[in-house]
This record gives sequence, structure tokens and C-alpha cells, in this order.
Amino acid sequence: MTSPYAEPKYTVPGLSTQGGGRVIDVLRVRLHALNDLSLTLKHIHWNVVGPHFIAVHEMLDPQVDRVREMADDTAERMSALGGVPGGTPGVLVAERTWDDYSVGRADAIAHLGALDLVYTGVVEDHRAALAEVGKIDPVTEDLLIEQLRSLEQFQWFVRAHLESSGGALSTAGALTEGQAARSAEQGGSR
Ligand SMILES: [Fe+2]
Repeated sequence: MTSPYAEPKYTVPGLSTQGGGRVIDVLRVRLHALNDLSLTLKHIHWNVVGPHFIAVHEMLDPQVDRVREMADDTAERMSALGGVPGGTPGVLVAERTWDDYSVGRADAIAHLGALDLVYTGVVEDHRAALAEVGKIDPVTEDLLIEQLRSLEQFQWFVRAHLESSGGALSTAGALTEGQAARSAEQGGSR
């Protein structure tokens, strides 16, 4: 995706403005993904029901806090590189390449199934961004590596609820959040 903000007038010392612009462009969509994730985590925090309500409700707030920090770090890295972070909801919705989270009020395990898929999308895209910026800017690469460590840990927290004692995930093979939610509720095919 080309961005109107991709060519900064200046960037950090040691990078070309073209290289800085490319990194800003990649971070732009990672910022949207992190802002979207923090809102989605709060949405689940508010809409989760059922016998496992409190465990999931309380598990999610530290994830929200950390993901908000990641969004802040990402936006400020964009600014340091000479870019313009897009922090408003309209820009996020206009530029994102994925759909809104699709589950409303639902049982804890259904939300966790859908959230597993959300994390898979964010982590895959973060890894692709990491590979891209790693060719240009090791400092941004380091930022994304640090973020991935937390994101992958959070996905493990979610997946531990979906895993059988044999080590299989109930959401394996699910392609949509709805499918993942249903598979999680049924315990998958173990
Ligand atoms: Fe709350």
C-alpha cells in the first residue's frame, strides 16, 4: 500500500529518507493493527459471559495495557523517523486490510477461539513487517522483535485454554472467527 506520508523530509541519521519512508509505511499498518487489537481486547473484556467470565475478563486487561504501550512505541518510532502516525479511528478503518472482530456477547471459550485467530493474523503480519524492516533499520527491527515476544506470549495464554492434554488446538484449521469460536465451544476434533 502506498501512503501519502511515505516520504519524510528528514529521518534518523544513517538512514536515507527513502529507507526511512519505507519503514514508516510498514509501521503505519502495524500501528493500525495494534490500535485495533487493543480495542478488540477491551470489546472481549466487556462482552465475555459464562462460567469462565472472571478469568478471561481479568486476563485481558494486562494484554490491553501492553498492546497500548506497543502502539505508543510504534507511533513514536514513526515520528522519530520523520513520519506522521495516523491515530484516528477513521484512518485506521480506511487503511486496515482486515475485517472488524465479528463476535459479540459470547461464552469465554468462544471468544478465546476467535481471539486465537486474531492473534494469528497480528503475529503473522508483524513477522512479515519484521522481515521487511530488518533489511533497512535494525532499530525498528528490534522494536518489532520485542513486541512479537509479548504478542506470542499472549497468544499462548489464549491457546492454553484451547489445548487438549494431547497438545492439539481445538481451533486448528479454522479460517474465520466464527468457525474458530464454534470449534472452541465444541472442543474441536481431538
Ligand atoms: Fe474493565
